Amino acid sequence: MTFNKFYQQPIDRRRHLVEAYQSHPLGYTPMSDEIGDRMVENYLYPYSLPLGVAQHFKINDRDYLIPMAIEEPSVIAAASNGAKRLGNIQAEAGAKVLTGQMILIPQTDRLPQDWLADRQEAWLDIARQASPSMVRRGGGPLALRGQRLQKEATSYDCYYLDYDPVDAMGANQLNQVLEWIGPIIAQETQGDLLMAILSNYSPDSLITARAQLPVSSLNRNHQEAFRMAHRIVQASDYAQLDPYRAVTHNKGIMNGVDALMIATGNDWRAIEAGVHAYACHEGDYQPLSHWSLSADDQYLLGEIALPLQVATVGGTLAVHPNAQWALNLLGQPDARTLGEIAASLGLAQNFAALRALVGQGIQQGHMALHARSLALQVGAQPDEIDRLVEDLQGQTLINRQVAKELLDKIRHSLDNEKD
Ligand code: MEV
Repeated sequence: MTFNKFYQQPIDRRRHLVEAYQSHPLGYTPMSDEIGDRMVENYLYPYSLPLGVAQHFKINDRDYLIPMAIEEPSVIAAASNGAKRLGNIQAEAGAKVLTGQMILIPQTDRLPQDWLADRQEAWLDIARQASPSMVRRGGGPLALRGQRLQKEATSYDCYYLDYDPVDAMGANQLNQVLEWIGPIIAQETQGDLLMAILSNYSPDSLITARAQLPVSSLNRNHQEAFRMAHRIVQASDYAQLDPYRAVTHNKGIMNGVDALMIATGNDWRAIEAGVHAYACHEGDYQPLSHWSLSADDQYLLGEIALPLQVATVGGTLAVHPNAQWALNLLGQPDARTLGEIAASLGLAQNFAALRALVGQGIQQGHMALHARSLALQVGAQPDEIDRLVEDLQGQTLINRQVAKELLDKIRHSLDNEKD
């Protein structure tokens, strides 16, 4: 979705365009004290982050304006820029399975696998009875597995409950089921229940996104375009070799994913934990996206796979007015669609970062926003900001000290002009 020269419009005009974008009103309202006080203990104030929109996204043939809450300059611009170049992104959410753990200290030799051979169906039935509303919505407990682990002299039996939370994040519902069924399993197996809690690791619930763009779109000059595509592939390959780079590669992806998760009221800590654990699922920490050239060298192909436990109903996001605004802007997607949007955003963000890094570097793109942020930090007034930003952009090295000196100069010259 694209508004012409959106960033150059005054803020009110931007708000008006976005508010009128969906057929129904989006209705932005700030968080009230009453809601904040209901959400956390010892509440004092709502905490703010800039909330913007990324443009140009087409995902599974549908246009999106993507809400992003983030303090880092350039991330939203980079996402929009990446999306413009990637064109239609094909995304697909696989099965959504949350796994809960009931961890017991066993008192007998009988293994969880043996207990499950007899009791699996009966325990699953009890678990389903503890989750009637989720079962009514077509989700709830799916399967039980188990294994015995050992550390020094102590054995641990873990029973894993796979659970489909439909469009909710499902943490509360699943934890409730685990705390219900855990003591029953402990009593029947004569084990001592250590804990019952959901896991944020869901390596089998992957959301994938793929894009392909003509190499020729990377530069007007054919040779330069091919060189750029080749360097993006090398950057992607290098990340597979070196965790120092892979972590930063993935951090760039999460710039986009987290900003969308925060905007839509999702639990981004759960998502961060799950994603980075998945990056290690083959042993070494690996990049979550990969870029390659098509066999005929005509296309640059990008793909990403992320385990994302995202929700569009329930919990915090049902009461957080900003989250509701963001979901309205996205057309009230279900959880699968929101996951597909998040993975596509991560891929576009990663493409924009790699293209900048193997091209002109990222500082140039950051400069204008960085200069504006420095201008504000050193106390430039509204009528001084544009001039200070322009002066800062003319410098090779910019920091607070330089900004302060330039602001003093501007003020001095303005005083002279007045005299
Ligand atoms: C900065 O927030 C993100 C990047 O470092 C990502 C990357 O290096 O791929 C630019």
